[in-house]
Amino acid sequence: MEQYVIKGGIPLNGDVTISGAKNAALGILAASIMTNEKVRVNNAPYVNDIIVMLDAIEEMGGTVERIDEHTVVISGKGIDSRTAGNDSLRNIRAGYYFIGALLGKSGYARVPLPGGCDIGSRPIDQHIKGFKALGADVKIENGIVIAKADHLRAAHIYFDVVSVGATINLMMASCMAEGQTILENVAKEPHIVDVANFLNSMGAKIKGAGTDTIRIVGVPRLMSTEYDIIPDQIEAGTFMCMAAATKGDITVRNVIPKHLESIGAKLVEMGNKVYFHNDTARVIGVSNQTHTDIKTLPYPGFPTDMQPQITTILCLAEGTSVVTENIFENRFRYVDELRLMGAQVKVEGNVAVVEGIDAFQSANLRAPDLRAGAALVMAALAADGISTVTDISYILRGYEDFDKKIRGLGGQIELCDDDRDVTKFRLRIG
Ligand code: UD1
Repeated sequence: MEQYVIKGGIPLNGDVTISGAKNAALGILAASIMTNEKVRVNNAPYVNDIIVMLDAIEEMGGTVERIDEHTVVISGKGIDSRTAGNDSLRNIRAGYYFIGALLGKSGYARVPLPGGCDIGSRPIDQHIKGFKALGADVKIENGIVIAKADHLRAAHIYFDVVSVGATINLMMASCMAEGQTILENVAKEPHIVDVANFLNSMGAKIKGAGTDTIRIVGVPRLMSTEYDIIPDQIEAGTFMCMAAATKGDITVRNVIPKHLESIGAKLVEMGNKVYFHNDTARVIGVSNQTHTDIKTLPYPGFPTDMQPQITTILCLAEGTSVVTENIFENRFRYVDELRLMGAQVKVEGNVAVVEGIDAFQSANLRAPDLRAGAALVMAALAADGISTVTDISYILRGYEDFDKKIRGLGGQIELCDDDRDVTKFRLRIG
């Protein structure tokens, strides 16, 4: 069984370079099929979710030239909007971006309902409400979303909840609709801005991305472009937390410091040292970290995708911390795994109360989802002794070269395919 085997208790030190943002790349790759001209995307992370998106584009009849691991040239010319979506697309959340992209391009989309991590009910009612407002007829048959419109017309759409997915989907669906669409109460995450910049580089007219209101003036067509994806905020934040967890000293390279402010601020409140420079964040983890409270919120608030990582380090901070999860209702499942390591955490509804302990014990752990999986690896790196983390397919969906990057910081971690590999690793590290 594929698993990470980790010998912890060693401070992680050195430099790590962050890959392109997975969640931006997912939106951008879907949007790239909206033109029949070639689109070159640079700095895409080489992770499984992206491989699934690219395979789906090919299965729909598009062309994907893989220039290297991080660079692709896509042509949406041969795409048949009636055959969208493969089975693996059901396993990733972002498959739903093909609804907005295909509807916006050709007035017809047939896409499986989204999957992704089981961190809550994750409805798509806001996406559907938006598509309908643009004049589309939307129905769900046997787990497939079918959206069609003879003619998309601009609309004024007010989202009931702040949704990253609905914001990106409606930006795509409306960028060739007739007239000016106004999206209100939108998400402001860095990847919203990146997808908007990408669409604008294709000729779209989108203004206001990164604020509460986005205005989109429909254009007749989108065109060829070349675009560099921004660095991944969550991968960067995860490595920042690793410095705190292992009491190490990590310089995280290729970051946009502005995107990391809420994470850096919490690490500082805990007593750690955080230094931002042009495109780096250095975190020095101190030995006596103190409690703090966390509330997850849409950007620029503290990201829900960093909640498992920060909760994990709060387990080792002196005093009582309260973590409130405001975005997804099922995002504390990893706490059972942390308890195996000695963590003292009580969960009631969307609130976790964490009593700091001195140290984790090593344990055999199972990753319940992508970000929690990364948090458990971090816990194992902080614990003396040898731990294992199974179900790592979640982690491979979103972190490029995770084990390799950790080894580059001096961490002892190996991705083992079977028990023989595990024995070899144990013998090697002694
Ligand atoms: C995206 C990210 C995910 C991140 C999340 C919040 C991708 C591929 N995934 O997920 O990593 O954790 O943003 O930052 O980019 N909601 C509704 N109705 C809808 C849509 C959403 O009620 O139609 C609710 C959700 O249940 C949730 C909240 O809105 O409570 C935010 O969800 P949303 O921002 O849409 O998350 P995703 O786009 O699925």
